[in-house]
Amino acid sequence: MPDPAADIGAATATAYRSALEVIAASEPDVADAIVGELASQRRQLKLIASENYASPAVLLAMGNWLSDKYAEGTPGHRMYAGCEMVDQIETLAAGHAVALFGADHAYVQPHSGIDANLVAYWAILANRIESPALAEVGAKHVNDLEPAVWERLRHDLHDQRMMGMSLDAGGHLTHGFRPNISGKLFSQASYGVNPESGLLDYDAIAEQARQFRPLLLVAGYSAYPRNPNFARLAEIAADVGATFMVDMSHFAGLVAGKVLTGDLNPVPHAGVVTSTTHKSLRGPRGGLVLCTQEYAPYVDRGCPMVLGGPLPNVMAAKAVALAEARQESFAGYAARIVENARALAGGLLSRGVRLVTGGTDNHLVLMDVGASFGLTGRQAEQALLDSGVVTNRNSVPLDPNGAWYTSGVRLGTPALTTLGFGPAELDEVADVIVAALRATKPAAATAKAKYELDPGTAEACRSRCADLLARHRLYPEIEL
Ligand SMILES: Cc1ncc(COP(=O)(O)O)c(C=O)c1O
Repeated sequence: MPDPAADIGAATATAYRSALEVIAASEPDVADAIVGELASQRRQLKLIASENYASPAVLLAMGNWLSDKYAEGTPGHRMYAGCEMVDQIETLAAGHAVALFGADHAYVQPHSGIDANLVAYWAILANRIESPALAEVGAKHVNDLEPAVWERLRHDLHDQRMMGMSLDAGGHLTHGFRPNISGKLFSQASYGVNPESGLLDYDAIAEQARQFRPLLLVAGYSAYPRNPNFARLAEIAADVGATFMVDMSHFAGLVAGKVLTGDLNPVPHAGVVTSTTHKSLRGPRGGLVLCTQEYAPYVDRGCPMVLGGPLPNVMAAKAVALAEARQESFAGYAARIVENARALAGGLLSRGVRLVTGGTDNHLVLMDVGASFGLTGRQAEQALLDSGVVTNRNSVPLDPNGAWYTSGVRLGTPALTTLGFGPAELDEVADVIVAALRATKPAAATAKAKYELDPGTAEACRSRCADLLARHRLYPEIEL
């Protein structure tokens, strides 16, 4: 009997061997680095909550001549001729996104999560501020406005308020913080979490919104280990006349896999939902925007409003990833991500580690390494890397070490779950993490970056990581 999986595995191995041969003929150093990256990813236990391993089908869909095509515009309305195949691909990807998430409309051109948020902000400003201003003077287009009217509109576009989750509570830089364009564009107020529980306090957010009167309320996080109640947040936004937007970059895979439903699914509750496609959703690096019909015409103007020409090869990879996420097996994957995160949290708690909010309900766990091990996030992140575990440091609420050194380390299970790790193995991972951090101390009392890690423990941890990874080889079909 022919085995289709074995055939695809053999074809994948051949595809990569051939591709590397072709690349090496032009620039062998790049081919070497690609091979080196696979070796490095196979050596490390990946617990970075925002990373994953895309399927070979997703990866291969990006490496071809679709990349050569300019396609500014939307399907059927392009500024360039010859876009029939790009139209087909973009329509397919958007159709998959609409069906998967139950949205009215999807826009799959954003090149990243930051870009998706920028598209969303401008769509909201265009709908809420620009359109009424045009209607007031009976103009169809900004080019038709008198200079004085245009100057007033420009001022009004830059004079709006938004509320977003504070950075140390787990929010994201693109939700109105000064180093990002969103913080320069909007006057922002941050909502935090209850300092005791680490949880969102909806009554406090409602009160703050009543005082601040934002045009836009943004929810979504990159380091909050619980599931926000989007129905409640939508009510808060509606009460003050704000547009409700959710950035689901981190947990889109849990929405796609129907782990987050009802009040925990942002799509039925928000006017605009943005996402990356490469985190728990397991697609190519990129972004997308979902929205109601009301926002669709504005979202579709993302390019050339704030985006450069679309990347047709990446939209093709998004279509493949979204098709994969529509398969029944993806729901099982999403459920296992959460099961594994619970096992990891349980393993750390039982070994005495303090976790922000005391555990997790989603794909991520936030360790307070200051309280648990007397380390900064920076020291812990490096000591873990030396021990074979790749993570990233992160602030904890009211972090005494600031946003650079931090007191936290964020862990996530999407990538290890893709490899096939189960709860018992996540408990073992917790044991490795605790062993490594117990064997680490600051190099001096005031040191925030330098540390000392017992070399024997580091060696033992690396060997345990290698054993775990040998059970679940990354891209097992690929032998180079
Ligand atoms: C919540 C959230 N939004 C947006 C982004 C930005 O995504 P990208 O790096 O693709 O621009 C991230 C990535 O870290 C994120 O966590």
